[in-house]
Amino acid sequence: MAILIDGKLTAAQIKERIKATVEQSVANGGKRPHLAAVLVGNDGASVTYVASKEKACADVGFDSTVIKLKEETSQDELLAVVKRLNENHDIDGIIVQLPLPKHINEQVVIKNIDYHKDVDGFHLANVGKMVLNMPGFLPATPFGILTLLKQYNIETRGKNCVILGRSNIVGRPMANLMSQKGILADCTVTMCNSKTKDIAYFTRNADIIIAAIGVPEFLKGDMVKQGVVVIDVGITRLPDSTKPKGYRIVGDVDFASVEPKASYISPVPGGVGPMTIVSLLENTLKSAQGKKLTWV
Ligand code: GUN
Repeated sequence: MAILIDGKLTAAQIKERIKATVEQSVANGGKRPHLAAVLVGNDGASVTYVASKEKACADVGFDSTVIKLKEETSQDELLAVVKRLNENHDIDGIIVQLPLPKHINEQVVIKNIDYHKDVDGFHLANVGKMVLNMPGFLPATPFGILTLLKQYNIETRGKNCVILGRSNIVGRPMANLMSQKGILADCTVTMCNSKTKDIAYFTRNADIIIAAIGVPEFLKGDMVKQGVVVIDVGITRLPDSTKPKGYRIVGDVDFASVEPKASYISPVPGGVGPMTIVSLLENTLKSAQGKKLTWV
């Protein structure tokens, strides 16, 4: 039976630590870290994520500002909002919730966020720093996964790590991080995508699998070897009339068939999801502290 990687518990512990740090800093006359989130349109999942981020800020004593813009907002209008947030010295972190409506170029928007406030770690300056192993903001989900690997003392050195998915948010940064030199890295990394021939060939040889493709219950028990470590990043809402909300959350891993073969496995929900938000808080705290050190 696998050991369950409990992201909910780990995230709660980290939140307590962040909260204590904030209260200590405020007691010493410091300001509360302040996260600004921009939401364009009414995409259901995005509305939920932004509300969760707002609540997480309140939980740890951060200030937060949510700017809700209409679906029809033009790219220039959005860039003007980003500029205002860049120039607002009270704001430590800025996130623009993705995906954006089709008429807006996401990369142009991200490029215009001050990279010192880019707590999502999506700006090309922070991506470059990550690739070069320089200090910067790591994207929240990969950061959260590294924290879980550390928390559970999972050995990564010399392991075969297979990443399913090549998104800018998870797959690509994760592949980069796991292949770097050092603790929590030193893996031989294989990235698979929807064009990969015979994905099971790669997953059966994997010591660590990070599944981030957004295909519900894609990874089955017959695709993994005994003792594998499985990190499930998938979060898909499947319609389910038996649930109060009318849907249930499903990961990329078929938990029932994979869990009996795994040594460690992260569940969905309660695995990577809570770690993503807490990593965003860690980045925002870091930004606020950095400001104090260098600019005040
Ligand atoms: N959409 C899905 N995940 C994320 C995230 O981590 N940050 C932002 N800004 N948008 C997202």
